[in-house]
Amino acid sequence: MSSILFSPLKLRGLELANRIAIAPMCQYSANDGVITDWHLMHYGQFTVSGTGALFVEATSVSPEGRISPGDVGIWSDDTAQALGRLVKFRQSYGNVPLGVQLAHAGRKASTGVPWGEHRVLGPDTGGWSVVGPSAISFSNVFPMPEELDQSGLDRIKSCFVEATHRAEQIGVEIIEIHAAHGYLLQQFLSPLSNQRSDDYGGSLENRMRYPLEIFAAVREVWPDEKPLGIRISAVDWVEGGWTLDESVTFAKALEAAGCDFIDVSSAGATPDAVIDGGPGYQVPFAAAIKAAVTDMKVMAVGLITSGRQAETILRSGQADMVALGRGFLYDPHWTWRAAEELGAQAPYPPQYARCHPSLQGLPIPPGAPPAES
Ligand SMILES: Cc1cc2nc3c(=O)[nH]c(=O)nc-3n(C[C@H](O)[C@H](O)[C@H](O)COP(=O)(O)O)c2cc1C
Repeated sequence: MSSILFSPLKLRGLELANRIAIAPMCQYSANDGVITDWHLMHYGQFTVSGTGALFVEATSVSPEGRISPGDVGIWSDDTAQALGRLVKFRQSYGNVPLGVQLAHAGRKASTGVPWGEHRVLGPDTGGWSVVGPSAISFSNVFPMPEELDQSGLDRIKSCFVEATHRAEQIGVEIIEIHAAHGYLLQQFLSPLSNQRSDDYGGSLENRMRYPLEIFAAVREVWPDEKPLGIRISAVDWVEGGWTLDESVTFAKALEAAGCDFIDVSSAGATPDAVIDGGPGYQVPFAAAIKAAVTDMKVMAVGLITSGRQAETILRSGQADMVALGRGFLYDPHWTWRAAEELGAQAPYPPQYARCHPSLQGLPIPPGAPPAES
């Protein structure tokens, strides 16, 4: 029986070698939005991992949209050129298409790096003013956001568009828009953070309006042959918050707008969420969306840890792809191990070909780099 996890997946003009993605994971290690050697090491290893796709962490479309001062950015030529070094590495050596997650943190911006002294940054600790759909802070220690007016909405939309142009110029292959985890676009979706009385608040249709406008603006300038997807939080895990039914409606609207994949996460809108976590705990959300859409690919994420578990999720029709985060931090060669577990094949770079279990102790395969190199 052949593995579905290790079968190719077509997203517009791109064919992924398998249905595994490395989830976006903030490294909080950039300087003024510019990636550093840490990122080259960290993402470099994943570009040669034989995985279907690699997503670079939440990459801010503007300085004010950063979660922390260590966030990666794509708002200027300097930040884009730095990211371009990583793209070049992938083009020269890698076997994994590279995606970028375009993000704006909204009212959850201006926080410290997780291992730093300050949870939230104020004017005395290097913080900056934050914006949101409504003047409601994330919690009483977070800064009060300024409610975005029409010119603010237009400004952020053009930041997403410019970021998309820059991503195209440097050769990024996939974009994922970050509309999850309580950041700006999800702040518009969730009634917990959006209490506007204009066209962008109130009814579900109004709350979806700004995220859908951003999606359409990015799709318009992103090349036709390149995939564009989105990450959502399927539920807020709190009474009165964003619901799975609303996610299903949003997913259908995204599909109609030309969305190629939806990456189904959850939570982040409120510190009061009570999350019922456990193996594959977000998979049922992905399954509900998959049941409601036609062609848009659905990605399940969250505590997926083994090849068999991932295969089962796809085989039972709950999702089309899986993404893993912490599993890849723990084992950057997770994809190779999952392939072994399932009796499947994953791409190896020629430099590493001799470590494949079937070759260890066997003669060096033709085309392998010489032993002394
Ligand atoms: C260190 C770390 C950083 C993360 N940063 C991001 C991020 O930049 N964007 C995002 O959408 N999710 C982020 N996440 C969430 C992951 O993408 C993923 O959804 C989550 O870890 C659940 O998957 P897992 O159980 O396989 O780790 C982060 C998670 C970790 C552990």
